[in-house]
Amino acid sequence: MSHNCKDTEETVVRSEQEESLRQRSFIAMNQQLLQAKVQSGGRTPRYCLKTFGCQMNEKQSEVVAGIMDEIGYIRTDKEEADIVIYNTCTVRENANLKVYGRLGYLHNLKKQNPSMKIILFGCMMQEKQVVEKIRKDYKFVDLVFGTHNIFTFAELFYQMQQADTQMIEIWDGTDQVVEDLPSERNYSFKSGVNVMFGCNNFCSYCIVPYVRGRERSRKPEAIINEIKKLVADGVVEVMLLGQNVNSYGKTLENPVTFAELLTMVEKIDGLKRIRFMTSHPKDLSDELIQVMAQSKKICHHLHLPLQSGSSRVLKEMNRRYDKEKYLELVKKIRQAIPDISLTTDLIVGFPGETEEDFLETLDVVRQADYDTAFTFIYSRRSGTPAAAKEDQIPEDVVKDRFDRLLALVQEKGRQVSSRFTGTVQEVLVEEESKEKGIFTGRTQYNLLVHFPGNEEMLGTFVNVKLETCKGFYYLGTLAE
Ligand code: SAH
Ligand code: SF4
Ligand code: F3S
Repeated sequence: MSHNCKDTEETVVRSEQEESLRQRSFIAMNQQLLQAKVQSGGRTPRYCLKTFGCQMNEKQSEVVAGIMDEIGYIRTDKEEADIVIYNTCTVRENANLKVYGRLGYLHNLKKQNPSMKIILFGCMMQEKQVVEKIRKDYKFVDLVFGTHNIFTFAELFYQMQQADTQMIEIWDGTDQVVEDLPSERNYSFKSGVNVMFGCNNFCSYCIVPYVRGRERSRKPEAIINEIKKLVADGVVEVMLLGQNVNSYGKTLENPVTFAELLTMVEKIDGLKRIRFMTSHPKDLSDELIQVMAQSKKICHHLHLPLQSGSSRVLKEMNRRYDKEKYLELVKKIRQAIPDISLTTDLIVGFPGETEEDFLETLDVVRQADYDTAFTFIYSRRSGTPAAAKEDQIPEDVVKDRFDRLLALVQEKGRQVSSRFTGTVQEVLVEEESKEKGIFTGRTQYNLLVHFPGNEEMLGTFVNVKLETCKGFYYLGTLAE
C-alpha cells in the first residue's frame, strides 16, 4: 500500500470491541515480525518516541508507547534508533519548525542506517500542505498518520513494514473512541485522563479545531472506569483533559455537566487529587465553582486562559467574553475559593492589536494576580480566520510588547507565588531533580518545590516547609 488518504465515509466502522480485538491481533503479528528480526540481527531493536505539544498529545503518545512495548521493542531517548516516532503539534509555527529541523537530522541518521524507519503522526499531519511537503520533500519518512486514527497504530505499523514506499493515512474525522489498548504511562502515580476530544470554539487564531475535529465527550462511565483502574494501579492524582472541559457532556445522549462529572470522580476511593484543563472562561459555571469550593480532592488551581485583556480584541478572537466579564469571573472564583491559584495563557500581536489594546492586557495581568502566565507571540496559522486579516503586526512591535508583558508577568508571578513563604504544604513527590538527593514535589496550587528527600518518597505525599520563593518554584525542607 502506498498513499492512501481516507475520509470517514470510506472507513469501515467496527464496534469498539471488534476494533480493539483487531488491533490486538496486529500486535501479535508485529510480535512475530520482531522475533524474526531479533533472530536475524542478534539484538532487540530500539524505538525513540518524542512528543511535541500539549498534554493530550502526551496522553496519545502513551498509547503508541504501550503498543511498541507490547510488541517488544525497547524504548530509548536517543534518535539513533531503529524506529523514530514523532507525535507532532502545529498550534504555533515554532512547533512545526522544530519538527522540520529534526527531520533534517534524522535524514542523516537514515543515510547511515537505511533500515531505520521514521514515523510522523499527530496534529501537524492533519494539515494538507504539511502532508504534501512530506510526500514531496521528505520521501525518507516511512509512515504518516494523523490524530483520528491513532488507535489503528498497530495495524499501520505492521503495514509499514511490508511497504516499500512512503505510507500516508490521514482521516478527516472519526466518531470512534477505542478504549481498550495498551498504554505505557509516563508516571506511575499520576496520569492524564481524556474527558473529551476536539474543540468547537473556533477562536479565530487557533488551528486546533481543524486538526482535532469536532467536540466529542467520553461517557462518564468510561472515564470513571478508567480512573478506577488507574487508582488500582497506584495512581493518586488525575488530570482531566480536554480543550474546553467546561463544555463537557453537553452533546452526550444523556447530558452530564463537567461539575457533575467531577462529583462522580471525587467519590473514587483511593484517588487523592483531581486537576483539570483547560477551562474556557465563557463556559465556567457557578456550579463548577461550588463543586471546587466544597471538594476535598480538586486542587485549588485553575488555568483560565485570558488571551487578551482588550474587549475589542477578544471579540475579534471570537472568545465570547469581554474584559469586564473575565474580571468578574476572577472575583467570583476568589470569593468562593480564597486560596485559589490562577494561571493563564496570553497572546501578543494578534492582528490589529493596538498599543491601547495591549495596555488592557497588562491591566488584567495587574488585577488578576496570576501565579504564572504563559505568554505567546501570535502565530499566523493558515486556514484560520485571523490569518487572512491584513493588519498583521510588525515583528519589532510584537517583540517589544512581548518583552514588556513577560517582565510584568514575571514580577507579578514572583509577588503572588511568594504568598506561601513560611507555610507547610502537602506535596506529591514527582521526581529526583538534576541535583542528586534533591527531590521535586508539587503543591495543590501547582507550584513546584525542591527539597532534600529520598527515593522512597517518590509518588507519595509529604509535608514540606516552603522556605525560599524563586518565582515559579520554591526551595524547602521536610516538615514534621
Ligand atoms: N483549548 C485551550 C488552549 C489550547 S492551545 C484554551 O482555549 O484555552 C494553548 C494556547 O496556545 C492557547 O491558550 C493560546 O494562548 C495559544 N495559541 C493558540 N493558537 C495560537 C496562535 N495561533 N498563536 C499564538 N498562540 C496561540
Ligand atoms: Fe483553540 Fe479556542 Fe479551542 Fe482553545 S478553545 S483549542 S484556543 S479554538
Ligand atoms: Fe498542539 Fe495539537 Fe495540542 S496542535 S497544542 S498538540 S491539540
